[in-house]
Amino acid sequence: MTREEIAAQLEEARARTLQLVEPLCDEDLRVQHDPLMSPIIWDLGHIAHFEELWLVRNLEGPIEFSEMPGLYNPFENPRRVRGALQLPTLEECRVLMREIRSRVLERMSRVRFDTDDELLRDGYVYSMVLQHEYQHNETILQTLQLKQGMPYRAPRAYSPPSPASVDRSTTARFGGGRVRIGTNDRSAAYDNERPQHEIDLAPFSIDVFQVSNGDYLEFMRDGGYDRRELWSDAGWAWRNESQVNAPKYWMPDGDGWCMRVMDKVTSVDSELPVCHVCYYEAEAFARFAGKRLPTELEWEVAAGWNAATNRMQSFPWGDEPATPDRANVDQLSFTTAPGGAYRDNWSPLGCYGMIGDVWEWTSSDFQPYPGYRTFPYPEYSEMFFGNEYKVLRGGSWATRPGAVRNSFRNWDYPIRRQIFAGFRCARDD
Ligand SMILES: [Fe+2]
Repeated sequence: MTREEIAAQLEEARARTLQLVEPLCDEDLRVQHDPLMSPIIWDLGHIAHFEELWLVRNLEGPIEFSEMPGLYNPFENPRRVRGALQLPTLEECRVLMREIRSRVLERMSRVRFDTDDELLRDGYVYSMVLQHEYQHNETILQTLQLKQGMPYRAPRAYSPPSPASVDRSTTARFGGGRVRIGTNDRSAAYDNERPQHEIDLAPFSIDVFQVSNGDYLEFMRDGGYDRRELWSDAGWAWRNESQVNAPKYWMPDGDGWCMRVMDKVTSVDSELPVCHVCYYEAEAFARFAGKRLPTELEWEVAAGWNAATNRMQSFPWGDEPATPDRANVDQLSFTTAPGGAYRDNWSPLGCYGMIGDVWEWTSSDFQPYPGYRTFPYPEYSEMFFGNEYKVLRGGSWATRPGAVRNSFRNWDYPIRRQIFAGFRCARDD
């Protein structure tokens, strides 16, 4: 990337962030809408300070990294306490963002990208900061869907293409063999996606499509939430404690269901991928269907392994980046789309929609790949490795295109439902 391209991307990212918050008043921005989520003004200040930390201060010489000092340090101030912080107004925050950005651009005029410095080489640190803002955009959208008071007035800018007629019950098959997982890319990928490594993968089948609302309704009508044998011990404990009996944001409507996305309430469309279910619900559904969730390795092979070229593609359709034409990403549709709607969104193995619509729960814990090396700071990945988090793949309609690819690994607690997440099923073969 050239300096001009980076500057344009930084500006575009900021314009989107400000577009998302534009319909909100200061009170909406300052309130903690849910204990799980930051006040949105905190996200904005944090985005700005993260940028300053990496693109100004850190370029002047290595800093002791604890993400950042004070108010915007996510570890000093966990989400649930952020509503009580002395937060700025939007106008103050905008001034701060502009002031930091002008210093970032001034500093960038003096950096070199053809260097041995891993942070600067190929502009990596700029990609990292851009992705950070993109990722916070999706977090902000989770908060907006949880918003108290009047629903968020979504700036819907485009609608998905019309649905194609497809047989949604089909599966794709991987015959087993040696594949390569992850990436060695150093221009944008995060440390947890590296290094690319070979594995032997047993044969498996995987659903061509994500599980739909219609499929999920069958599970509900069949008493899925009350059938102990479908749930893991942890899942059953969660189900009993939460008393949940439908995906989050679904509401009974006569003898059916309706659902809400921001300010739009519609009856549940059985053709759309199910969204806002937690890992345990996905796991119970899979058992109901006589299947299981895929591992993240199986997911990645289904999304990008090209047997003809014997290589892993960056995206289902090839190596060209995600765009809102290729997949349901980039937020402004504010909806999921029926299976088959995006003509290009097919993988070499024959799976549809691995990128976009909803994040997909996998059965894998978030663990480092063999040969993993922390870069550039342990607070992104390393701190979260272990068996507490499940990996999600593929991005959602609320993901910016620059923050998703086949190798991208997201993770969260198995009880989380505010994320834009669904799943697809697999089975041994
Ligand atoms: Fe952050």
